[in-house]
Amino acid sequence: MRYLRPDLLQLQPYAAVPPLTADKLDANEFPWDWPVGFKQKLSLLWEEEILSNRYPDAQHRRLKQAIAAYAGAAPEQISVGNGSDELIRSLLIATCLGDRGGILVPEPTFSMYAILAESLGIPVVRVPRHPETFALDLKQCQEAMTEQRVRVVCLVDPNSPTGNGLTAAEWEWVEGLPEEVLVILDEAYFEFSQHTALPKLAEHPNWVILRTFSKAFRLAAHRVGYAIGHPQLIQVLEAIRLPYNLSAISQWAAQLALEHADELLADVALIRQEREALYHALQELPGVRVWPSQANFLYFRVAGWDPQELQRAWQELGTCVRCSGGGLRLTVGSSEENQRALERLRQILQSGR
Ligand SMILES: Cc1ncc(COP(=O)(O)O)c(C=O)c1O
Repeated sequence: MRYLRPDLLQLQPYAAVPPLTADKLDANEFPWDWPVGFKQKLSLLWEEEILSNRYPDAQHRRLKQAIAAYAGAAPEQISVGNGSDELIRSLLIATCLGDRGGILVPEPTFSMYAILAESLGIPVVRVPRHPETFALDLKQCQEAMTEQRVRVVCLVDPNSPTGNGLTAAEWEWVEGLPEEVLVILDEAYFEFSQHTALPKLAEHPNWVILRTFSKAFRLAAHRVGYAIGHPQLIQVLEAIRLPYNLSAISQWAAQLALEHADELLADVALIRQEREALYHALQELPGVRVWPSQANFLYFRVAGWDPQELQRAWQELGTCVRCSGGGLRLTVGSSEENQRALERLRQILQSGR
């Protein structure tokens, strides 16, 4: 098709969704649906509060207030997106579009940064992480900053797929980045790690934090994410997004999630326990090298196995995981899902191939 931009013809969409019948341990979702009582409350709101003939609140006023109170920020510091994916795209539009520079992506990391940048024709500077620790190669990062016109540094903390948080040396580097460079600190897994850059945000007008309701709050189906940053940056994000980017029901769902944050987030402790149990069980398996994680997933490699081959074999037995950066990322599921995942993996490794 000659009307298409040629640079998009090779672009691959975000990886396809696995079969619905399998244990879905590939997308870092929470293993349990919302409690029935909360769903009933949401249905009631749908019946009584939402006028389906009217557009939803374009300014997300109530939701922003609730997010501000939960996060410990001011509403003017918050922009809400259709998932944090939308905010990533808006941030790239606000900074790099029109040949104003590229983004630095330490790999492996969340693939949407590179996909969204490429879709906008924005250069992606990929810097490999350390193969053993997944730490940033700060020398290479610094070289890229000066030589390749980097305007945005994309850091996921804790990183997906590898689960590691930023180290003291990495923070020091981030703190020293010049103000003309935007630093995206993606805290999608904040509720699991409990680590946030928020206390330092006021000192760094060039930092922006991204969070999501898709993980610990169990609202992946509703697509709600938010950015916390300098009011001027937030104002631009608000100006460039689609006016009605979030449905009325999604706004209510996120508000309800925050009203019941204590109850919903109480189960995060169970996921952490399961994660530790899984970590130790994986460590026991022959040839498996697993890394500690601060999030709701584990990253591992198996000596002598091609990760894609292993992923296929696992999926055939009913467990879906994600392949990334030469390893596999396993989401921590319910205890039953985790047991089945381990049992199936044992079976595959015993069979040899
Ligand atoms: C690091 C990271 N950022 C952002 C997202 C996207 O979140 P959302 O569902 O809010 O678009 C994910 C989803 O897996 C993620 O892992």
